[in-house]
Amino acid sequence: MTMPLPGRRTPLDPDRSGGSQPVPEPLLTTLADGRRIVVRQAGTGVPIVLLHGFPLDHTMWDGQWALVAAGGALDGSARLIAPDLAGFGGSDGPTASSIAGMADEVVAILDALGCHEPVVACGLSMGGYVVQHLAARYPDRLRGIVLVDTKLEADTPAARAGRVDLSERVGRWGARIAAEALVPRLLAPHLLSLGSGRSALETRLRETIQQTAVATIRTALAALGDRPDMTAAATGFVQPTLLVVGAEDGITPPECLERAAALIRHAELEIVAGCGHMTPMEDPTAFNARLASFLRERVVTAPPARSRGAP
Ligand code: MLT
Repeated sequence: MTMPLPGRRTPLDPDRSGGSQPVPEPLLTTLADGRRIVVRQAGTGVPIVLLHGFPLDHTMWDGQWALVAAGGALDGSARLIAPDLAGFGGSDGPTASSIAGMADEVVAILDALGCHEPVVACGLSMGGYVVQHLAARYPDRLRGIVLVDTKLEADTPAARAGRVDLSERVGRWGARIAAEALVPRLLAPHLLSLGSGRSALETRLRETIQQTAVATIRTALAALGDRPDMTAAATGFVQPTLLVVGAEDGITPPECLERAAALIRHAELEIVAGCGHMTPMEDPTAFNARLASFLRERVVTAPPARSRGAP
């Protein structure tokens, strides 16, 4: 069941979208297990599900709605679907305890929305890890993959220990500790193209993180630390694949996506100058143009990928 979400309507929200971009109103959809999930969707055509990073929510994709607005590059050819994963943003918890569980949840969200046709799955960082598990577990539900500012490799022991430490501090002091630890690392050090927009972006990110439930942050940190290495699995991905990374991404640097591009059979890589770890927010114009050309040239025209033994 899907219904409007009262009190959250922001059809035109200049502050959040970086300009007077049309932002569709949020809906609540209910999963079979009773959890209510916040989703925004707009447009008609190939479904593209947009999966947010950690510990953010679907509003990180506010700059992408222009793609399907009247006269946008994907007007009439794509339907954007941007959920808050369980526990994040306005969605009910509990948060899935593994990245694979988050992938199961995305399929449940698509089912609840009545979207049974194959989708393009696009995810940033943690969302990109979820996309990799969708590709491994549900290849027949996909017709394209977009991995943004993410990587295939598992955490190093040091990175895992860092997550345990952050989780303990968040448990003791609250979500603001996560904002303090993460926000300074998310954007490119020199965001020349944004000027004063940089501090507005940082404020948005900080507010989103501070509003995230402590239990969600801690569960997700454990899931991130435990996630498996997907390098071997990626050699079996068969869908057209776009890899996008900010040239100044210090969390998942371009080398991560260069390694992925060498492994994934149908991958193309775009390194976006002047961006850090949040490319779709930092340079929505460049990101949107690349996503639109990928959809038009690699997805809409592509024959269905075979999920087993495709050449
Ligand atoms: C994210 O942006 O989702 C996180 O940086 C993912 C991670 O910590 O591995």
